[in-house]
Amino acid sequence: MAVGVFDSGLGGLTVLDALTRRLPDVPFVYFADSKHAPYGVRDADDIYNLTCAAVERLWAEGCDLVILACNTASAAALRRMQESWVPKDKRVLGVFVPLIEALTERRWGDNSPPREVAVKHVALFATPATVRSRAFQRELAFRAIGVDVEAQACGGLVDAIEEGDMILAEALVRSHVDALKRKMPEPEAAILGCTHYPLMQDAFQEALGPGVTVYSQANLVAESLADYLKRHPGMLGKGTEGGFLTTGNPVKVSQNATQFLRRKITFSAA
Ligand code: DGL
Repeated sequence: MAVGVFDSGLGGLTVLDALTRRLPDVPFVYFADSKHAPYGVRDADDIYNLTCAAVERLWAEGCDLVILACNTASAAALRRMQESWVPKDKRVLGVFVPLIEALTERRWGDNSPPREVAVKHVALFATPATVRSRAFQRELAFRAIGVDVEAQACGGLVDAIEEGDMILAEALVRSHVDALKRKMPEPEAAILGCTHYPLMQDAFQEALGPGVTVYSQANLVAESLADYLKRHPGMLGKGTEGGFLTTGNPVKVSQNATQFLRRKITFSAA
């Protein structure tokens, strides 16, 4: 009954942690495509091909349901995968929609017409590919009207996090927040639209100031998966073992993952 969780690297571990807390009996197989990270600087075809290969690997582990714990893949590849590639007996779900439902005060699957919501000025921090896709604005427009979104592509931040260079990562957060504030001086809410960024959540909150509500995805995605599995228990695949796979160097990836999550994590070669 395993479920697959995919990210280009370590960011999806922030989602995995919340999933494990919310669904302690479900074994999760985590796949980090570390060799090809970051995805955020790649073009849409490249992201699509890499994501499909990773998802196939998770299907081979007995995970019929795979969560793309990666906004870049969710934004640049998921729709195309769902429309023309995912077979009937498998599912691939992204991380965007639960976040947008929370921001727009909607319950899961509420498809009523877009309406006015409380927040009007939203800052989106994401990878260059996610910003370029405009997927966030598209999903938001289905649900809310009158929300002004200013997006900031946070070049370099995923590389710094993957390398474990937190000094550089903090400096990059400050400079990206400054750049955003030049375009939108007073955001009411900020979306961390990359699963790597919650690892820097304190730095974002500090740079944005206490008046800005920072939304990150982990708990929202965990709630929405729990709800999904209640309605579709058959999507728990036949795999029985959880684990961690990487296309990168398992020793190095395990070290960085252990440092981030402050518990021992051991990756094997994918
Ligand atoms: N953590 C991923 C995301 O949510 C991928 C970042 C990257 O590989 O650039 O976008």
